[in-house]
Amino acid sequence: MIYNDKPTNAWDLYWESGALESCITQSDRLAGLAMEAFWGGFAESLPKSAKIIDLATGNGSVVKQLLSSVSSLQVTAVDIAMIQPQTEDVHLASATFVPNIDITNLPYATCEFDAVTSQFGAEYAISDHTRTSEMVLESSRVLSSGGHLKFLMHNTQSALLLSNQAKLREYDSLFASSGLLPTLLKYKEGDASLYDMESAGETFLKLDIVKTKRISGQIFDAITYFLQQPRTKLLSEHITNTLRRIYAERSRLQQLQKAALSESEMIRIVDDFKACGVAIDISEPMLVANENGDKDILGWHILGQKR
Ligand SMILES: C[S@@+](CC[C@H](N)C(=O)[O-])C[C@H]1O[C@@H](n2cnc3c(N)ncnc32)[C@H](O)[C@@H]1O
Repeated sequence: MIYNDKPTNAWDLYWESGALESCITQSDRLAGLAMEAFWGGFAESLPKSAKIIDLATGNGSVVKQLLSSVSSLQVTAVDIAMIQPQTEDVHLASATFVPNIDITNLPYATCEFDAVTSQFGAEYAISDHTRTSEMVLESSRVLSSGGHLKFLMHNTQSALLLSNQAKLREYDSLFASSGLLPTLLKYKEGDASLYDMESAGETFLKLDIVKTKRISGQIFDAITYFLQQPRTKLLSEHITNTLRRIYAERSRLQQLQKAALSESEMIRIVDDFKACGVAIDISEPMLVANENGDKDILGWHILGQKR
């Protein structure tokens, strides 16, 4: 097995690329605009120098939107992964980013922040929906009395989840036992021949699944290149790194799938926040227009205030 690291290592690899976003891509223009209004409007509703903590921040997508709107806010941004925000960005540079912080155990004082935010992050820290999550306890604890909480969380009914499921099916077929990627691993170790690779490739192409240019196409291109190279130590390292990235990508999609909240799970979280003294005024699906003029669910929006 090449990729058997902790799930967070998949995020380390992802943020290392310097990407700002993970769930809303640059091609989602309308979703991007909606998010600017969503976070920009919230920033403007707070006192000018409010102290905010952004949970599971990644490379600072929310931070950038908050500070682009109100540059005097004092933002602390934490993530369990080794995040690598682009600090040459004037907005990101003014925030304090702290990697290696588990949001189920925050190293901050009770009532330290005027606002707590999270975008597709806090729900990744919930492992069991039958009891109150430490994430809920901790985010309520660090919030000051009268402080605000605003989260955007994955929704099992969102368009993002549907496209995620399709991608996962594609990856699962590539990973299926005796499939293309396990055969590539054997090829790298000298336990499979060129012929084995070709026949695994043909079997995969015959499978009745959607094969995209972005996933199967790129993997096929990489494998074609590998098969044309002499079997050297360098090639072996190159294949290892490629397989590691593919495993990591699948791990991130699996985590997204697991993190998404059904309506009953969302209701439980809202009740748990209430029990921790944070009254939730809004908990509803957030809708965004798509390019066809219809509306898609982007996630769950929850907005609350600590008593
Ligand atoms: C989908 S990304 C979202 C990042 C960012 N909020 C954004 O919108 O781009 C999920 C993030 O949650 C982080 N994460 C998962 N579990 C965590 C935990 N227990 N504590 C802190 N961060 C966590 C991951 O490392 C990852 O960066």
